[in-house]
Amino acid sequence: MAFNPLRERGIPLEKQFRNWSELNVKPYDKETVHPYSRCRGIVMNGIEVEAVMFSHTMARHTADPKIKQQLALVRRAEAQQQKAINWLIPGDESTLEVTIGYEQVAVDLTAWVAQHEPDAYLKQVYEFGLLEDFDHLYRYANLMALIESDKKAEKIVGGLTEIMPGRPTIFEHRDPRDEIRRPMTALAADPQSILNALTVMAAEQQTMNFYMTIGNRPQEMLARGLYAEIAEIEEQHVSHYESILDPTASWLTNLVMHEYNECWLYWSFMEQEPDKRVKALYELHLNMEIEHLRIACEMMRQIENRDPEEMLPKALEEPLLFQENKAYLRKVLAEQVDLTSSESEFMPVSDLPADHRYFDYQGVVNKGGVPSEQVIEQARSELGEEYRLQTEGGHPVPGLKREKNRDGASTEYANRMAA
Ligand SMILES: [Fe+2]
Ligand SMILES: [Fe+2]
Ligand SMILES: [Fe+2]
Ligand SMILES: [Fe+2]
Repeated sequence: MAFNPLRERGIPLEKQFRNWSELNVKPYDKETVHPYSRCRGIVMNGIEVEAVMFSHTMARHTADPKIKQQLALVRRAEAQQQKAINWLIPGDESTLEVTIGYEQVAVDLTAWVAQHEPDAYLKQVYEFGLLEDFDHLYRYANLMALIESDKKAEKIVGGLTEIMPGRPTIFEHRDPRDEIRRPMTALAADPQSILNALTVMAAEQQTMNFYMTIGNRPQEMLARGLYAEIAEIEEQHVSHYESILDPTASWLTNLVMHEYNECWLYWSFMEQEPDKRVKALYELHLNMEIEHLRIACEMMRQIENRDPEEMLPKALEEPLLFQENKAYLRKVLAEQVDLTSSESEFMPVSDLPADHRYFDYQGVVNKGGVPSEQVIEQARSELGEEYRLQTEGGHPVPGLKREKNRDGASTEYANRMAA
């Protein structure tokens, strides 16, 4: 079922604009929505936000008014797509419920990408980020148990993703300079590596924007603090993922790859989506993206005198799938939870010299209380036990088991910070 968007005919751009009632779509029912349908919508919203913002940034670096007009035309269609997708979220789904959806995306999207990444270093980049978002899911689920106890995190994730500690958020705060990775080169990279990076970067960027905006909506100081703390990690994650992309790729190369990526994702999600109405929306958007891609390719031929087909794959073979990754996550947890980074390299935290800037940064931000720890302490004291969803048995890391099952085991992180 290979698919080549360059050989398909899309919807002409002048026929892509929709009226307000078409954009104001009927939201899904939060009681019956499939958890991975929620996840796919969150991803596509992030992808469309990136399409809009990338186009704005490109326009700001473009002098030719004709090119600006062409960008503006396609961008208006992207902006409409963003509304149609994001307006699927119903008003009775609370901000915290949506947040649990965002972190489930970060876990199962990144897990698929890491397992389908041909480059060993980039795979490590994804696995490193994966364990951090996995921990966020656990912290927010505990916040939900405390402040929205009528709701259940296990219902939102549908039991498809486990909820337990990852790399503890308190230890994720690193000096900003240690978040910059080695870039791939677009010429040498497998096209899948570019699609993977664009997708995860857009998802993390949307998560950052979302927490930046809605993190001040709760009244509880603990909740506001937790959003502020995790929003800062999402900022870190955007720095981490954007730095793997080739910084020498031209604006038009980037534009073509963005449109190609949108084709890949709508094609992938259209195939899996069980909700017929949403599936039809994805199919419609795919047919729009085929035209966006054709236009971007034409611009590249005219302006750069280059054939975009030389850098694109012959066809899309593999759809991105939302599926369970429990066994894989447990393996990555057992092997990598103690990793940290210095410059662009990853190493166990025990390998850092005592005067490393990591400890300075930790000392600054974690001074005077850490919300991601307080939320667990408060859950233990108010609910008797912290919230976890371990469907596959005990935690694979002895030092991260429930306190009563821990037998005094610790993590390298805890040992190192105590030293
Ligand atoms: Fe789009
Ligand atoms: Fe996260
Ligand atoms: Fe993240
Ligand atoms: Fe597009």
